[in-house]
Amino acid sequence: MGRRTAWVGTSWKMNKGPAEAVAAARALAELSIPPHVQPFVVPPFTSLKDVCSILRDKNILVGAQNMHWENAGAWTGEVSPPMVKECGAALVELGHSERRTYFGETDQTVNLKVLAALKYGLKPLICIGDTQEEYAFNVTNEVLARQVKIALHGVKAHEFENILLAYEPVWAIGEKGRPAEADFVQNCHEQVRQTLIELAGEETAERIPVLYGGSVNLENAPHYAALPDVDGVFVGRAAWPVAGFKAIIESIAT
Ligand code: PGA
Repeated sequence: MGRRTAWVGTSWKMNKGPAEAVAAARALAELSIPPHVQPFVVPPFTSLKDVCSILRDKNILVGAQNMHWENAGAWTGEVSPPMVKECGAALVELGHSERRTYFGETDQTVNLKVLAALKYGLKPLICIGDTQEEYAFNVTNEVLARQVKIALHGVKAHEFENILLAYEPVWAIGEKGRPAEADFVQNCHEQVRQTLIELAGEETAERIPVLYGGSVNLENAPHYAALPDVDGVFVGRAAWPVAGFKAIIESIAT
């Protein structure tokens, strides 16, 4: 990594009710954040506003796990960009594989959401990743290029610097996930960087953080983060306890 800030984030997914989330946010607020590390946390909607206010003046960004692309309307069960913004969130996670697999998220809806996020001044954290089948047929690079190109379709030149990407192989995520080899990860990130160069030019592409996620833990986090085209890690299970998140932040800083 070296040349850029190291991003270290965690999505709590469907964990921590309001009381537990507030307690975790208060513990996060006590952490001292090493220089050149940018932590962020992505709580469930039910505690987004509380976590945002607890961390408002801290160097930990807060994000939502999803949102709709319209700003209001008859969309039962959905949350809009202005609602996320009003809660105080700085970023919004879009296109996580669990959303794509179980809730019908597509490259096209991710694109609509990316454009909406940018319009409302939210940083989109766009998750991309190959399935086990795509990996087995050796089309990972093609899949990632397609996902990146569709997600960023219509993004204006000056907006690219607000984008965050996370490469998360679907086969590496969760309890049954298999952590990816470092060489493979570096190669994928290099390919993603090439696609970004095509879309945004070299200078801008170099500034877009591309995080790695999928069974990241305390042992492998510093190895992934040290790869030349990896700008940090996006962590699930290993960072749900605040102590786990803290340890990973420290492991990357040293
Ligand atoms: P995991 O989740 O670290 O528990 O594999 C990663 C993710 O889904 O972002």
